[in-house]
Amino acid sequence: ELLETGRRDLAGKTVLVTAGGTREAIDPVRYLGNRSSGKMGYAIAEAARMRGADVILVTAPTALPLPTGVEVIQVESAREMFEAVLKCFPRVDIVVKAAAVADYSPVRKSSQKIKKTKGALILELTPNPDILLELGRRKEKQILVGFAAETEELLANAERKMKEKNLDMIVANDVTCPETGFGSDFNKVTLVFPDGRTKELPLLPKKQVAMRILDEVVMLPRFSEL
Ligand code: CTP
Ligand code: CA
Repeated sequence: ELLETGRRDLAGKTVLVTAGGTREAIDPVRYLGNRSSGKMGYAIAEAARMRGADVILVTAPTALPLPTGVEVIQVESAREMFEAVLKCFPRVDIVVKAAAVADYSPVRKSSQKIKKTKGALILELTPNPDILLELGRRKEKQILVGFAAETEELLANAERKMKEKNLDMIVANDVTCPETGFGSDFNKVTLVFPDGRTKELPLLPKKQVAMRILDEVVMLPRFSEL
């Protein structure tokens, strides 16, 4: 592979990556989910490991093989991811939140399979905790990198999320992009920084996007204070 191996610029750092799409149970056989493949997050976990980091991967279900050489914590729901991430947070240096976290979950999980009836089925949903927002409140020396999946107003929405969640960088991802889209091995993203800088990356394989994101992390002013 042409990825820059041998570069150990994350040695001694602990990187927590979240990946995949959470699943919110409706009943024993059904869930609310999303189209995240997990590929971007897994590529970041792998890239961080190659650069010498101790990696914790908190992953919602995906169809991908689990990576080796990293600590893997498997979760299903947004609430489980929240608990796993918050528990690890005090011992990590860098968090990259590539997971697609469900914003809502069913108020009640039916203990039995819901039977169909004639009329409409109404599912009542309740908001999930925002993991990254909570990390932004608690952050001390940690570097926080978020993703923004958008179908419109890409940069404005990404910038707003970066500020709200107290992030050090946000990866703005136009999920309507025809060359990429969910499940693709490629991604086209723009990196947005708190000082107003933006860096538009070309269409690249997700493994290279992962490397470019980490290149920017190690150049952040706060990285030298870790
Ligand atoms: N995120 C999170 N916890 C949530 C929802 C989102 O940690 N409950 C994180 C995602 O992992 C991502 C970032 O927040 O890194 C932005 O997620 P996104 O869904 O784009 O934004 P939201 O803030 O949820 O806003 P909306 O879905 O309304 O656009
Ligand atoms: Ca969301």
